Amino acid sequence: MASLAKELSAAAGAAFEAMGLEARFGEVRRSDKPELADFQCNGAMAAAKAAGRNPREIAGEIAAKLKAHALVLSAEVAGPGFINLRVSDAALSARAEAVRGDAMAGGEKAAAPERITLDFGGPNVAKPMHVGHLRSAVIGDTLQRLLKFLGDTVISDVHLGDWGLQMGHLVTELEDEQPGLIYFDAGYTGPYPAQSPVTIEDLGRLYPQASIKAKADEARNERSQKAVAEMQAGRAGYRALLRHFIDVSVEALKADYGFLNVSFDLWKGESDVDHLIPGLVERFKAAGLAEESDGAWIVHVAKESDKKEMPPVMLVNSRGGTGYHTTDLATIEDRMTALSPKPERMLYVVDQRQALHFEQVYRAAGLLGLIDESRLEHIGFGTVNGTDGKPFKTREGGVLRLADLQEMAVAEATKKIDAAGKLPEDMGPGERADVARKVAVAALRFSDLMNTRITNYVFDLDRFTSFEGKTGPYLLYAAVRVKSVLRKAAEAGHQPGAVAVTEDAERALVLQLDGFGAALLGAREKRMPHILCEHLYSLAQAFSAFYGALPIASEPDAAKRASRLALADAVRHQLETGLDLLGITVPERM
Ligand code: ARG
Repeated sequence: MASLAKELSAAAGAAFEAMGLEARFGEVRRSDKPELADFQCNGAMAAAKAAGRNPREIAGEIAAKLKAHALVLSAEVAGPGFINLRVSDAALSARAEAVRGDAMAGGEKAAAPERITLDFGGPNVAKPMHVGHLRSAVIGDTLQRLLKFLGDTVISDVHLGDWGLQMGHLVTELEDEQPGLIYFDAGYTGPYPAQSPVTIEDLGRLYPQASIKAKADEARNERSQKAVAEMQAGRAGYRALLRHFIDVSVEALKADYGFLNVSFDLWKGESDVDHLIPGLVERFKAAGLAEESDGAWIVHVAKESDKKEMPPVMLVNSRGGTGYHTTDLATIEDRMTALSPKPERMLYVVDQRQALHFEQVYRAAGLLGLIDESRLEHIGFGTVNGTDGKPFKTREGGVLRLADLQEMAVAEATKKIDAAGKLPEDMGPGERADVARKVAVAALRFSDLMNTRITNYVFDLDRFTSFEGKTGPYLLYAAVRVKSVLRKAAEAGHQPGAVAVTEDAERALVLQLDGFGAALLGAREKRMPHILCEHLYSLAQAFSAFYGALPIASEPDAAKRASRLALADAVRHQLETGLDLLGITVPERM
């Protein structure tokens, strides 16, 4: 059974068509005035305008047809031509049962699924991740879950930043510390030890050390630049070090991402497409798209219609090196040739401040015919700010490390859980730690996802971990409460049964459940996870109202009790399904 909104839209659309008007006017939405209607259709006004007819007359004809529909209890025309619809109790009951028994909890697959590569995460090897990387990870992973759920074929790629100056810093700084390492012997070409000469802690120390020195000393900086150039040119010892640096970093990154329930299909990086760059540059030249300029090769991507300045793509710089534009172009080529199935769309979940970079890359990719420019989408997001309104820093003034963030979030979650005194007495330390971890992840992920992704938000761990307000912990608590109602009822021998909706709070709850599919598809279409967050938050509130208004397990009438338990179970199912799409896991008890 499709959602009530969809069934009604189809019926209203058919009614418009029967009058010689476009079916799209039949779109039916949840009414924003629940005291007047369950659903409303506002298409008669626009249809009347298009056809030069009277809107109330059209609305009247449509309403008359809808009255005969099996789901509809009443259809009334209001104001200039609004159609207010009430659905029958039987329709609502059937819909609740369908949601409860549905693998997608009432969601529905996208009409036109696509093969998509999803580029997100984008951490840089050796450099600590910052909150911008956190946003990319959380938004990207949520989109990955959502798109897969809705039927798209998704291949996600972390796209490590492993090809820049930081690699030169690491090589040179390590050479200063341990000049005797075999990797620095230019005459030696391998084999090299399988064991890494550095740990993740070493990398965390070497990079800032070198970077500070390089900022103060140009000669030191040039040494690093030379080392990158040699590495890029294929110097064996440096390549072997690169491999170690990447492997050591990836292991640490997997742990960090694992905490946040973030995963990737591919762990590729910029360095993986290096071998494609010479051929790519040649093809830009051969196609007459690249132009020499002060010793560099650039690609003009500006268009007549541009309102803002559009600088050219830097294909090869004047030193003969290649950078961010070129690795991104080579990565597009790699994805188009090496991935199976071949992608038809690429999404990049990256800080909005990189919008210009992607616009340039997309245009150049389109010019060379790697992929149609319109198939490349930048999913930008805003900055995370501190309470001072500036981009978030730790108290010490540095960017935040993900590992520290985890620790802080778990500590804060533990504090809130203890203060609320929510955990059952008999819960052991292992389960307690697990609950705190889940609350922390819910807090971090939800507080990021609930914002329209393009807006900046203020990082406020105290608020994020609160059990009150629009927060992850509030939703977890709501879901756990539904579960505990069901568990306690089962312990008392009461099972869910047939749904028979009669009360207002039950109606409101089922109408809310009915909106899940539209929220999912809306979130997919706009690439906006907050639409799903809103739905789940409203669902939790609708359950709370239902729970406050009516007895569930304590309802003496057996049929009513079984019906309400089934409603609760449908809510549990949809909440858990939806939260899972947000990467949030619900504990058994809390
Ligand atoms: N490593 C980059 C950064 O830290 C992000 C990479 C984003 N993805 C991409 N294909 N450019 O800014």
